[in-house]
Amino acid sequence: MNLREHLYAIAVAGITAFTLACNPTRPAQGTTSERISALDADLNYCDSQLHRTLAELADSTGTIDYTLSPRNILAGEHHWNLRRVDKAEWCGGFFPGILWYDYEATADTAILSQARRFTQPLAFLAQTPAYDHDLGFLVITSFLNGYRLTGDEAYKQVLLACADTLATLFNPHAGTILSWPRHVRDYGGHNTIMDNMINLELLFWAADNGGADSLRQIAMSHADTTMAYHFHDEGIAYHVAVYDSIDGHFIRGCTHQGLADTTMWARGQSWAIYGYTMCYRYTHEQRYLSFAQKVADAYLKNLPADGVPFWDFNDPRIATTTLTDLTPSPSVAPRDASAACVVASALIELADYVDPDKAQTYLRVADLTLQTLRRPEWRGADSCPAFLLHSTGHHPAGSEVDASISYADYYYIEALIRARKHALESADKKKAEK
Ligand code: GLY
Repeated sequence: MNLREHLYAIAVAGITAFTLACNPTRPAQGTTSERISALDADLNYCDSQLHRTLAELADSTGTIDYTLSPRNILAGEHHWNLRRVDKAEWCGGFFPGILWYDYEATADTAILSQARRFTQPLAFLAQTPAYDHDLGFLVITSFLNGYRLTGDEAYKQVLLACADTLATLFNPHAGTILSWPRHVRDYGGHNTIMDNMINLELLFWAADNGGADSLRQIAMSHADTTMAYHFHDEGIAYHVAVYDSIDGHFIRGCTHQGLADTTMWARGQSWAIYGYTMCYRYTHEQRYLSFAQKVADAYLKNLPADGVPFWDFNDPRIATTTLTDLTPSPSVAPRDASAACVVASALIELADYVDPDKAQTYLRVADLTLQTLRRPEWRGADSCPAFLLHSTGHHPAGSEVDASISYADYYYIEALIRARKHALESADKKKAEK
């Protein structure tokens, strides 16, 4: 056993001492109406944090620069670091997306107006060549939520134009979208990253809403090729797959943001779970549903008992980190609340598609995760206006480690809304059965 394998074995032994897999059938806490009240309180908390953010974004005359979007609050900081959205910054859609979800939860027309204003500066993407695959993240969060909630025809046109733009990155030889057209490290060839699965929604949606049917074919080719090559043992995702750009053959799987090429980087796995669940929603193809369960089960197998993963499941420090170690230090493995939220949201959807036993497991994990994130040590609360603390962006680069990050808040509020809807529907069902 070499050193890496030895550290890995220690980490696995440590993890299994407190993983969720030890007790996969523990019931969700509380009655349905108690869960709905708790979710209402969570959504109220998000709404009040969002008002704080909006107040902080305004200058002394009350004016907001809508081309600046909250991106992160680093450990120990108290205010959002902002990024310009007119440079196709990949996180630029999450803040408008949070506003759209808050509007959905509250029906507050002042929030609707802010959602519109933060969405509009991204409209330039409809007339701009693709910078990279993140175009999907940018407009699904902003324009697609906006269109879903308002039916605004102008939003639909932006989405259709952006879907065509995203499709220009498709390489028919490899069968996938080129995620990073610019030089990112020395991956060579045609690179595709797991995160890219999320962006297929733009293509599926466009094909269903007046766009070319070829957009659906591209999305399915990407999902199928990714399923064939982008995973190693038992449904664990590589972060990056490299294909030959000329003949398209798979060259290698590796990592960019994970610990090592074959470790399970938590957010990469979360994109896979969410991505294949979404593929099933749009296609009803059984293979995507089976695969969504396979990648979800690989993640759940070693998920800590509080439902929030460490940034990478194979970080050797996990062996000596307890679930209450949330203060950054060289000996503590950081957690990733963002991956927990992406997965919680995906599992609530996946539960609708699977058999009742599996559905119970998925719903219980989502519920447990939301219970954990309700605890004071996970919340921005008084210390900063983000909803959540303790996400990890790019650990190998030392960037956004143990931070509040806009995408964690986005998938958190999405998960809360999905969980509340699910709980209300099951309460209605129970009433009808009486
Ligand atoms: N590259 C997107 C992510 O950090 O998940």
